[in-house]
Amino acid sequence: MKLSRRKLIALIGGGVVLAATASAGGFLATRRPTRALAPWSLAGTYTEPRMRALSFAILAPNPHNRQPWVAELTGDDMLIIHRDKTRNLPETDPFDRQLTIGMGCFLELLRMAAAEDGYALETELFPQGDGGPVALIRFEGGGKVDPLFGNVFDRHTNRQGYEDRAVATDAQAALAGFATIKSDPADVAALRTLTWEAMAIEMTTKHVMMESVDLMRFGKAEIEANPDGISLGGPFLESMMAVGMLSREGQADQASASFKQGLDMIQKAMDATQAYVVLTSKGNTREDQINAGRDWIRLHLAATGLGLAMQPVSQALQEYPEMESHFAQVHEALAAPGETVQMLGRLGYGPAIDASPRWPLETRIAHG
Ligand SMILES: Cc1cc2nc3c(=O)[nH]c(=O)nc-3n(C[C@H](O)[C@H](O)[C@H](O)COP(=O)(O)O)c2cc1C
Repeated sequence: MKLSRRKLIALIGGGVVLAATASAGGFLATRRPTRALAPWSLAGTYTEPRMRALSFAILAPNPHNRQPWVAELTGDDMLIIHRDKTRNLPETDPFDRQLTIGMGCFLELLRMAAAEDGYALETELFPQGDGGPVALIRFEGGGKVDPLFGNVFDRHTNRQGYEDRAVATDAQAALAGFATIKSDPADVAALRTLTWEAMAIEMTTKHVMMESVDLMRFGKAEIEANPDGISLGGPFLESMMAVGMLSREGQADQASASFKQGLDMIQKAMDATQAYVVLTSKGNTREDQINAGRDWIRLHLAATGLGLAMQPVSQALQEYPEMESHFAQVHEALAAPGETVQMLGRLGYGPAIDASPRWPLETRIAHG
C-alpha cells in the first residue's frame, strides 16, 4: 500500500505508529543504520587482548553519545586512554563532569572485558593531572570474571515511556546495592516534576538547546555519516521526517509545531516513570567522577539483567546559570550537604529498543 503524503500525515497525527503497519518490516530493514551499529557485532571479534577489550569498552554509555575516548597502544601490554577535548559539551557540561563519568563507564567496561580473558588491569588515573590522559593501564594476569558483563549487549539507554507498574521489590533490593532507588509515590511524583521542568528549561534555553540540535542526526544517512550524537532514526521518526514534521530547522525553532510535538512526546515518556535511581558522591574530584561512571555502568548492567530499562535524566544536574535553581532543588532532595548528585535516572519496565550507533573501534585508536 502506498500512502499519499496527506494520508500519512493524517495517520501520524492520529497517533497510528507506522511501525505497526504491514509495510513497516521492509521499511525497518532498509532504514536501519547497519554500518553505524556494526561495532556491536564486532565487539569481541578481535584477537589482540587490548583491542578485544576496547571493542567492548566503546559500547559504554556516555553523554550525547560523543564517544570522546581515544586509546593509544604502547609496548606489549599498555594502554593510554585519552579524552578527545574536541568532543566537549561546553553548554550542557561546562566542567566536563559528565564526560568524565562517561570515561568511567568506558574504563569499567574495559576492565570487565579484559577480565573475561583473564586479565586484571593496573590503572593509574590522570597520571599527569587533569589536563593529560585519563588513564595509564597495564594488562596483567589474574583477572576475575564479572557476571554483570553478560548483559553488555542488552544494555541500552531507553527513552521510551515505561509500563505503569511498580519495579518489583526484589529487583529494587538487588539494585539497592548499586545506587539509591526512589520508588515512594511522593518522591516519584516530585522527581517527575523536577526532571520534566529541568528538561523544559534545557529545551527552551536557546544556547543550550542548540548544542543538542547541532548534534542531532536526522535519519539513516546522517547517522551513518556521523555515528554519534543524538540519533533520530527508526521507522516512526523517519516517517515524520519524510512528511516534513521533523527537521533540524523545526527543532531549532521553538515556535514550530514540530518542536512542540517533540516536547510533548518527551514529556509523555518522562511522565511514564515509576522509579528513579540516584548516585551521589561525597567529593567531586575527577577520580570521584570516574568512580561514579564505574558505578553507573554496573548499575545499568545489573538493571538490564533484571529486565529493567534505564535512562539518565541529567538536565537538573547540569551546571549552567539557567539551571541553578533546579540544580539546587535536586541536591536538596537527593544529597547530603556538600555531596554531589552525579547521576539521576529513570528506572522501569520498558519496550525493547535498538542499540545506538558507535564509531568503529579503529577510528578511536591513536597512533603515537
Ligand atoms: C553522564 C551521562 C549523562 C547522560 N545523560 C543523559 C540524559 O540526560 N538523557 C538521555 O536520554 N541520555 C543520557 N545519557 C545516555 C547517553 O545519551 C547514552 O549513553 C548514549 O547516547 C549511548 O547510548 P546507549 O547508552 O544506548 O549505548 C547519559 C549518559 C551519561 C554517561
